Amino acid sequence: MAKSKPKFSPRHLIGIEHLSQDDICAILDQADKYAAMGHQLKAQNPAFNRLIAANIFMEPSTRTRMSFEIAAERLGIKPLNFEAATSSLKKGESTLDTILTIDAMKPDVMIIRQSQRGLLDEISDAVSCPLVNAGDGTGEHPTQALLDALTIRQKKGTLKGKKVVIIGDIIHSRVARSNFLLLTKMGADVFAFGSLELMPDTLPDGVKRATSMAQALDQADAVMMLRMQLERMESRPTLDGYFASFGLSREKLARAKPDVLVLHPGPINRGVEISPEVADDPDHSVILDQVTNGVAVRMAVLDILTRPARK
Ligand code: CP
Repeated sequence: MAKSKPKFSPRHLIGIEHLSQDDICAILDQADKYAAMGHQLKAQNPAFNRLIAANIFMEPSTRTRMSFEIAAERLGIKPLNFEAATSSLKKGESTLDTILTIDAMKPDVMIIRQSQRGLLDEISDAVSCPLVNAGDGTGEHPTQALLDALTIRQKKGTLKGKKVVIIGDIIHSRVARSNFLLLTKMGADVFAFGSLELMPDTLPDGVKRATSMAQALDQADAVMMLRMQLERMESRPTLDGYFASFGLSREKLARAKPDVLVLHPGPINRGVEISPEVADDPDHSVILDQVTNGVAVRMAVLDILTRPARK
């Protein structure tokens, strides 16, 4: 029987900005298949066995790094973790030279988190293997937006027409940027809200600026809370009063639809941007479902990007 041709065959996954609605659906459909297989899958296809994924994290991570590692292991790809703290970065080697050096060792895919926005786009033609952007400074975090979309789609059936509001430190957030791009491409009704100093002057096309927390939350289908990215701020703001004005409490959430979903990319700062009882509310919070879906999405991405290497 002839093999069906994959609908989506990109070389890299650097940003949602490069994906069409069909590309996004192709990744989510593949991720749904992996999610349905549960957690038993290991070395599912012998064709993956000879591939190597270089897991290159130059900024801290728990979820993204571990889930790419688990995703690779479940597929049968060998993940090799780059240890920034003991690498030649400490001797002054640049991020660019580090990536090009690892590329010269010919891994089959490189998963990269680093702080220079746009760097992966700049080098995409120079490297010999697929690149996956695992977060580039304030740029994009495409697999986070994909796992968020998968979680909403699983719970609500569709993203189209759903009111999704993203609240918090929008200006520093690559998660917000990737989500804005993905959600608008998928036809969601997208709102952003945060304190004036944490909101950018312009938002991506189609994203509406809420004028109050109440307006943002009113009849929302999904609320995504963001932490304050203190590591990207020049001076540390005071957090006094932040929760009262911009944090998500049970009382504020009552403005949303009764079946509203609460998302957070993590890590959570309990009592700062979200109350513990909302974060742990089994009727609304899907924060740990997001983490679980992160493995399925990253399996789908690694599967799709390594198809040429497996031919
Ligand atoms: N959401 C996210 O990127 O989490 P980590 O920084 O722990 O990977």
